[in-house]
Order: sequence, then C-alpha cells, then structure tokens
Amino acid sequence: MRRKIVAGNWKMNKTFQEADELINEIIEGLEDANHKGVDVVLCPPFTFMEMTTDYAQESEYAVGAQNVSSFDSGAYTGEVSAKMLHSMGVEYCIIGHSERRKYFNETDEQLTQKAELLLKYNILPIFCCGELLPEREAANHFEVVKSQIENTIFKLEPLDFAKVIIAYEPVWAIGTGVTATSDQAQEMHVFIRNLISEKYGKEIAKNTSILYGGSCNAINAKELFANPDVDGGLIGGASLIAIDFLKIIESF
Ligand code: 13P
Repeated sequence: MRRKIVAGNWKMNKTFQEADELINEIIEGLEDANHKGVDVVLCPPFTFMEMTTDYAQESEYAVGAQNVSSFDSGAYTGEVSAKMLHSMGVEYCIIGHSERRKYFNETDEQLTQKAELLLKYNILPIFCCGELLPEREAANHFEVVKSQIENTIFKLEPLDFAKVIIAYEPVWAIGTGVTATSDQAQEMHVFIRNLISEKYGKEIAKNTSILYGGSCNAINAKELFANPDVDGGLIGGASLIAIDFLKIIESF
C-alpha cells in the first residue's frame, strides 16, 4: 500500500536558533499528536541539516533535502552531493520544485540526473510537477504535467521509479493563499496515477504516493487529504509554524 506523507519544505527560511526552536516544537508535538500511519519529513536548508538529522535520531520524523547536485562528486563549487546527504542520514530529497525551475533554470535533463543519483544513494526523490496559471487558464495543465513527468522520472527503470514520490504543486497555488480545490487536486492526481499505470503498470501506480502542495494549511488540509488519490502534502509556509504543521499531520 502507498504511504501517507506530510513533508515540510522550509525553503530559505529560519536562522539556526529559529530552526532549533521549530524542530523542538515539532518533536514535542509529535509525541502527543496522532500521526499514526503518516510519515513526517522535514526538509530544512542544508545549513541546518546536521542539527535536523541529529534530532531525528530521537524523534519520529525523517529528514529530506530541498535540492541536490546533478553531479556525483568533484570540482563543483557550492554543490552538495547525494552521497553527502546519504552519509548524514538524509532519506528524501525534493527535486524539480517550480522555484528551482524558475530561478535556477533547472532542466529536465538535470532533474533526471538528480533522480538517478539520489536513487543510487538510497535517497527517495520527491519529484515536483505543476502548471503555471496561464497554462491552466489555457486548459493545458494536463499536458504540462504529463511532459514534466515523461521527460524526467519516466526515464527511470521500474524498480527505481517505484521509489519516487510525486508532489503535484500547481505554481499558481504556491505561496499565494489560493489553494487548488479538492476536485482540482483529485482530478490531477488521478491523471498522474493513470500515466504511471500506463507506463509502469497498475501495481506501481497503486503504490506511488502523490502529494499535493500549494497553500495547503491547517484549515484546508483535511478536505484535500480526504481525496482517495491525495496521499499527503508538501507544505511550505505552514510548515514553518509548529502548531499548523502538526494540525496538517493530524488531518488524515
Ligand atoms: P506553500 O505551502 O507556501 O504554498 O508552498 C508550497 C510549496 O512550494 C512546497 O514545496
């Protein structure tokens, strides 16, 4: 059966002290929260990775990175490799986030390389896809998401693909307070699951976790997660506030 996952993408937020405080609030909350059956993942900036993996040893969350190099190792100043992340106990890594596609010009080819390297080092990719507002308005959203997936993670062998987590994040919903409706999320998730089924077969499709991201918060999470094909959330802003993040985790 596919897993339910709530992952917090902190993006470029928090100081070291603030991150320490947030993690401790989440750890305390997780001790009381009813999060049975939900895998919780924290994705801090690299600078707080060591602290987050250290605390994780005593707590019930796993750690994810927000990015990884498309190179394996060597003279790539400023980059962080999958091997390094693995050596620190990082278990997940977000790739293909729309902010990285937009501001850092990430290409499909680089994303495919990143996915392959992560899998080589036993890190589960959380692959983001999603359309821009004009693309939805032009009723192109299915085509856009299809090509984002086909040009990257569909290049993986079935056994590798089976480890990928997908996050549908409509770009117009990210950080805007405008969330996709429950129907819009479910419709796209079913579309993605059908694509997987056609490419890799029913069993892999059934077992792939597809998360929703984009202005998901403590109020709307319950309705979004109630959809049969929404297997959790990739949370931005609301993951920076412990009580909100914990409420989202409890929304299943
Ligand atoms: P928000 O939850 O802030 O809209 O961000 C979503 C996101 O981009 C998670 O990766």
